[in-house]
Amino acid sequence: MSKSLDSATAATDSTVTETIETIADTAPAVRTAIATHREQAGGVNPSGDTQLAADVRADELFEQRLLGIDGIATYASEERDELATADGRLHVAMDPLDGSSNLEPNSGMGTIFGIYSEQPPTHGKYLLAAGFVIYGPVTSMVVARNGRVREYIAEEDDYRLIDDDVTVPGEPTVFGFGGGVDSWTDSFEGFAEEIRRELKLRYGGAMIADINQVLSYGGLFSYPALQSRPEGKLRLQFEGQPMAYVVETAGGRSSNGNGSLLETNPDDLHERTPLYLGNADLIDRLEASL
Ligand code: AHG
Ligand code: MN
Ligand code: MN
Ligand code: MN
Repeated sequence: MSKSLDSATAATDSTVTETIETIADTAPAVRTAIATHREQAGGVNPSGDTQLAADVRADELFEQRLLGIDGIATYASEERDELATADGRLHVAMDPLDGSSNLEPNSGMGTIFGIYSEQPPTHGKYLLAAGFVIYGPVTSMVVARNGRVREYIAEEDDYRLIDDDVTVPGEPTVFGFGGGVDSWTDSFEGFAEEIRRELKLRYGGAMIADINQVLSYGGLFSYPALQSRPEGKLRLQFEGQPMAYVVETAGGRSSNGNGSLLETNPDDLHERTPLYLGNADLIDRLEASL
């Protein structure tokens, strides 16, 4: 590799590392925001979700800290219309607080991130790394990078590696489907009826926790196309592509009903997508049934 190419690759690697570490180090401040910014923010985000003050505060925290990293060019999130810009080369797209409807019942919430080499809205093939943080009983972080998925948990002031090679277990055991049976299409309802007889229902209302169950126990997570909402609920750029990158790197499959979420190209920064993630054979069966 030529010297200049070598140094550009090294610069990219160090920016990706610094971005992941900055997101990890922001976890305590996000946990504080969850505890102190619990009220409605009074507005909706660009995809029409009601915003909590914690959504807005988490978004501000990540923007400030990530744009402060030398190699970062833009910061985009589901909570803001436009990208925030700086003069680096890499692009971060985030769901700053995932599962914010779990704030009131104090159930699992998290942060989803994707680090892209091209400016969003952009194709999943430009992902350099992706992952998520879970603000649960302990703070944990799952990172997919260079063909491997690793899991860490936060201890006093550092993170400890607890799994150096996260892979979707071959034998699926759990499923979680969002949207509610009354809003599903007939074909998805038929598939869900089959799956209900084979797997155990575990649905917590925050995709980071529900997908982490699939990474731990094998199975399926979906927020499907709905009768009233064929595009589903989840955002392709901020939730779909990063989580598909994690699950596919862990040996599973992703789909929007037709094919991998990493094979589509968001036209709009905030577009929604039907989302199906989990064991490859189950996703194959699902696509055949839709
Ligand atoms: P967010 O809080 O970032 O808007 O995401 C919530 C999403 C996702 O985490 C979860 O799978 C889904 O919404 C749950 O939707 P329902 O509350 O309709 O089940
Ligand atoms: Mn939201
Ligand atoms: Mn979300
Ligand atoms: Mn969110």
